[in-house]
Amino acid sequence: MKRLHNIGRLFTATGAGVVERASVIASEKIAWAGVEGKEPRELMEKVTDEHDCGAGLVTPGLIDAHTHPLYAGDRMAEVAMRSAGATYTEVAKAGGGIRASVWATRSASAEALEAAAAQRLRKWFAGGATTVEAKTGYHLEREGELKATMILSRLSARTDLPRIEVTFLAAHSVPPERPRQRDAYAKEVASWCRDAKEAGARFCDVFCDEGYFTVAQSRRVLKAGMAAGLIPRIHADEIARTGGAKLAAELHAASADHLLRAERKDAVALAKAGVVATLAPVTALSMGKLPPVRELLEAGTVIALGTDHNPGTSGVTSMSLVVALAVSVLKLSVERALIAGTIGGAYSLSLADRGSISTGLAADLVLWEADHEGAFAWAYGLRPRSVWRAGALVAS
Ligand code: NIG
Ligand code: FE
Repeated sequence: MKRLHNIGRLFTATGAGVVERASVIASEKIAWAGVEGKEPRELMEKVTDEHDCGAGLVTPGLIDAHTHPLYAGDRMAEVAMRSAGATYTEVAKAGGGIRASVWATRSASAEALEAAAAQRLRKWFAGGATTVEAKTGYHLEREGELKATMILSRLSARTDLPRIEVTFLAAHSVPPERPRQRDAYAKEVASWCRDAKEAGARFCDVFCDEGYFTVAQSRRVLKAGMAAGLIPRIHADEIARTGGAKLAAELHAASADHLLRAERKDAVALAKAGVVATLAPVTALSMGKLPPVRELLEAGTVIALGTDHNPGTSGVTSMSLVVALAVSVLKLSVERALIAGTIGGAYSLSLADRGSISTGLAADLVLWEADHEGAFAWAYGLRPRSVWRAGALVAS
């Protein structure tokens, strides 16, 4: 067992709030956490490894609940176009957007994609994330999407990377070579869900939006996913309010993501159905529209956060930056932002084994370069001093 002692502030993400002058005893899981000096003797006897936290801040490992990390190429020219006034939809119509990444990704070998994704995913530790949700969606044909699922699932077995939760997002866009076969493509995707589950996916996602998939098409895919044992999550009401949030509520999806165009009614429906709102402040900034945070909070919706890392609208790999932006852009308090970035993420990913500092949960812990959580909203990319994943030091 190891003991982290001399913790100045332990942000537990539980009802216990912040414990000052704390210690944590853990192996792969947390065995005990509380005020230093109050450790049970029988546990202290098992401690073989002491780590002095220098009176610093410790939080649970951050959870990134929305990413697209498996791709090749980049779309920097279109980022520049958008900066000069073109919209995401205009860029997509001009041949850019998701479809541009699809051509590049299809032409990369599986080995190259896997190596690039592994190298990329290691960066999440530097922002304090120990769990990363990861979507497929840059192949848009059966073999490629299943191959992408298998690559992510292989990466999820590695202990030198953050824990990875795999989402099958074959319904990310209509394939570039079949622009007029949206309905047929959605039906095909529905028929691939069993294989996706077999290949290691836990979730099924759909880009339910204007120019992408309709509510009816999304429902078909997600219901097939559910029948195959995949948990539904939805890109909802990001570009236009087409009904993604309502569909998420109808299906009791784990999460409805983005929600930039969602309204109070949607917030209430999500809260009633127990759907988590997974918000991506970087994308909100790049799209120039904010989600209805006040309405979500008033309705009592659980909020989670994501980098939404993808080749077109977010190169961010730092969840500590996302926590800062959740404060300055989404107007959450630091405490709420950290709750969203830890236990909120665990809810979004239907995970009961992590996200807070509680006995029995995974020892995914971060010691920060700070002695108070306020530092997140000051540093804009607060750095960890040490990161433990399942009790093992993975970054320092
Ligand atoms: O979450 N909205 C769909 N997917 C991404 C964008 C992906 C891309 O542009 O490549 C998102 O914002
Ligand atoms: Fe996305």
